[in-house]
Amino acid sequence: MSGASGVKAGRANPDRQGSGNPAPGGSSSRTPLIELSGVTFAWKGRPPVLEGLDLRVWDGERAALTGGNGAGKTTLLSLVMGLLRPSAGTVSILGKPMLSEKDFGSCRHRLGFVFQDADDQLFCPTVADDVAFGPLNLGASSEEAELKVTEVLKTLGMESFRDRVTHDLSGGEKRLVALGTVLALAPRMLILDEPTNFLDRSARERLMEILEELGLPILVASHDFEFLKRVCGSFLELRDGKIHPLGALP
Ligand SMILES: Nc1ncnc2c1ncn2[C@@H]1O[C@H](COP(=O)(O)OP(=O)(O)O)[C@@H](O)[C@H]1O
Ligand SMILES: [Mg+2]
Repeated sequence: MSGASGVKAGRANPDRQGSGNPAPGGSSSRTPLIELSGVTFAWKGRPPVLEGLDLRVWDGERAALTGGNGAGKTTLLSLVMGLLRPSAGTVSILGKPMLSEKDFGSCRHRLGFVFQDADDQLFCPTVADDVAFGPLNLGASSEEAELKVTEVLKTLGMESFRDRVTHDLSGGEKRLVALGTVLALAPRMLILDEPTNFLDRSARERLMEILEELGLPILVASHDFEFLKRVCGSFLELRDGKIHPLGALP
């Protein structure tokens, strides 16, 4: 895939309402990292929360997903990850249509999904165990996993947390360790759900610095406009079940 890494590309085009954001540089020949076409989803017994939704996230793009409470941001991210399945439409990841759980299983680890609640992501006794879990699960040796833990904790500036009991960490520390668990899998991009919720000022600042330093493509659902303006280069609003590109955030 051709790279535009580190470039805040894919700026929204307000003329393309509801059709997802255009390719950076106007190219239509590149493959998006994520592509949703005509996706419809309804929770049981409820009207559709997403209806005929189109979304593309391009290599090098850092896309903000905004929208009111209950607009469907978390539902949308769950569909991208294959944790929910649409009743209509298609989800393609890294250019491949996701037709089965097997398809999602083979590429889910490439999309570093950080849950809204870090407690949903951390379940091992220590920080090192949590970060090593993914690589071990994908077949890494214990030596390789140990090296990965060292590398990831260094990236996060959390080397001293290696043997800490995960359960005892603060909310901000847990959020960074949750990010570490996905970084350990060398993701192609990051998908973050309300990452600054409940973070104090310094933890939020640290998270922004880390995301900027990582330079990975990002799709991030958040209400925190200051955070989004600093981290993202394109802005999308989820409203009435569809994506509406925004020129800028207020
Ligand atoms: N597990 C669920 N069961 C039924 N309805 C749900 C469930 N999760 C979310 N919803 C509903 O789907 C809609 C979208 O929710 P959500 O995706 O969490 O929105 P957002 O993340 O934008 O706040 C809301 O009306 C919410 O009540
Ligand atoms: Mg949500």
